[in-house]
Parts: sequence; C-alpha cells; structure tokens
Amino acid sequence: MATGARPKVFCSWGFPEAGLAILREHADVQVWDGPDGAPRDVLLDALRNGAAGVLALPPTDRLNVEAMDLAPDLKVISGFGVGFDYVDVPEATRRGIAVCNTPGTLTETTADQAWALMLGAARHVPEGDRYVRSGEWRKYEPALLLGTDIHGATLGVVGMGAIGTAVARRARGFGMRILYAGRSRRPEAEAETGAVHVPLDDLLRQSDFVSLNCALTAETRGLIGTRELELMKPTAILVNTARGGVVKQAELAAALRAGTIASAAIDVFEVEPVAHDDALVACKNAVFAPHLGSATFATRARMSRVACENIVAALEGRRPPFLVNPAVWQD
Ligand code: DGY
Repeated sequence: MATGARPKVFCSWGFPEAGLAILREHADVQVWDGPDGAPRDVLLDALRNGAAGVLALPPTDRLNVEAMDLAPDLKVISGFGVGFDYVDVPEATRRGIAVCNTPGTLTETTADQAWALMLGAARHVPEGDRYVRSGEWRKYEPALLLGTDIHGATLGVVGMGAIGTAVARRARGFGMRILYAGRSRRPEAEAETGAVHVPLDDLLRQSDFVSLNCALTAETRGLIGTRELELMKPTAILVNTARGGVVKQAELAAALRAGTIASAAIDVFEVEPVAHDDALVACKNAVFAPHLGSATFATRARMSRVACENIVAALEGRRPPFLVNPAVWQD
C-alpha cells in the first residue's frame, strides 16, 4: 500500500449502512451487493488485489489458508456476527492478521429466537398456521395439535455463555427449572437465573427442552448424536440456534423419524442453505428457520457498526474493540 493511500476494505455482502458509512470515512470500500453474498472467486480476487480488511459473512465465507495465501496486504478479518468458525484463527494469528467479531450485539435477539422456536415447536405454531390457511378447519377441535407445556418444565442449556444465560433468564418468567452443562461453572449466571450445573448426560436425561447455545469448536462438533438423543426423554424438544455442526444432522433426522425425541426446533444446519430434500427437512415433527438468530433490524445495524468499528480500529493501529485473537496485538 503506497504511503497516504487509503486502505482497501472488501465487504462480502451489502451490510447495513450504519456500519458501511463508518468504513467509507476511512477506507476505499468495495461492497458486493448481490443477494447471496460474494461468490468465493470475488472474495479471493479482492484479497489478491490488496484488501487490507475484509468484512466477512459468517458462516458462509471461508477465510482459510487458501484465502490468506492470496492476501498479501490483509490485516484484519472482521465477521458480521459472533461465531468465528469460518476463519482459520490459528493461521490468521500466525500471520499477524487480526480476527474480530461482534459479541454483545446479538445476545438478546438470538435468545428471543431460541424462544420463538421453542414455543413454535411446543405449541405447533407452524402447523396451526398451515391448517388455518388450508381451509380444512371446520369446527373447534379439542384434540387438535396438542402440544407440550413450557411453563413449569425443565430447560437444559448447553453452553451457558452470554446467549445461553439470556435464554435461561427468559425461562425464569415461565417458571422453569433450569439446568446447564458446559466446561466450567458460571456462578454469575447461576445467581441470576437459578440454573444448576450438571454433566451433559444428566441434563439430557432430565430436560424437557434442550437449548444448544455453545460455540462450534473441535470439542463441540458433533456433540449431539444418536447416543445423546437416546438419553433424552421421548417427549423432549431440541432447540439449536448455535451452529449446525454441534448436531449430527443425519442422526437427528433418524431420531425424529423414530420418535426418540418428540421434536426439534432448528435455526442452523450442518451445511447452509440446507438441501430441501435433506432427511432432516423431511421430518414433520420439527420446526425450521433459515439461520435467523440475529435477524432484527436493530441488531443487524448494531452488528454492522461494531464489525466496521473493529476494522477501522485495526487499520488505524488501534486495538479493535472485539479481538478474537489477542495474541496478534501488542500495544
Ligand atoms: C453469529 O453471530 O455467529 C451468527 O450466527 C451469524 O453468523
């Protein structure tokens, strides 16, 4: 980059202007504004052509060794979201590339979505909607679409981070008993929500609703498969707003077909978009959303602002507010 030249930043989607406006004050910004996010070859071209920053769309973009090898000027990868399983973080750290995310921007919104799905699955909201529209509803039917009570039931939260805690906080309003599983105890979350730390297997055995809220890591990949689903109650409902890879999707589909668990409410899939003929999508006893955890106007704008502020800080030599790999930064 020539002295005095503005750094180049590539944005792989038409992110909300709330953030892009901040970026434009500091950088030459190239925005891919096609509907589906930048195709890989466009992202790689931008890296090859001297992008110093990338505003990336997790989990779709792949910022791996191949991408970094092509990126002589890359200093910062900033993800529009919290999850950073789309970046090879150790590789970025080795190369001195800052990796940033947007924690705190979407916690409550994603917890709302977990609850929307939980309620939807427990009370057959999508089926009821389809039934009313079908024109088949003739009279009040006392045995129609009977569901599961949420109030007073047991909720198991897997991963009591910020989002898991926000899910648990809402459960108090429903008078639920709350269990959680995770590597370490969270005394603050326990004090706030009354949740009790238990081993994962116990949580699965005892919960009426299991909400997955952990990050996707080597440790959590495939955490929920046939063995774990068989530990769950046949009446239980699994809710996943974390990452599809936490669940072995084919095994979940088989468990739903066999009635091992009653239902699942799924916002995230192993591969997105999930194929319309995937075995899981064929399961009638499940409710789906197309990765909408953080999808509100206000939250998207906040995510865009924070993601762009991360980039600007890194390019100006200031420590980005939300740095995933602090090892790259020496103040
Ligand atoms: C996140 O923040 O990780 C969302 O799932 C978007 O990828």
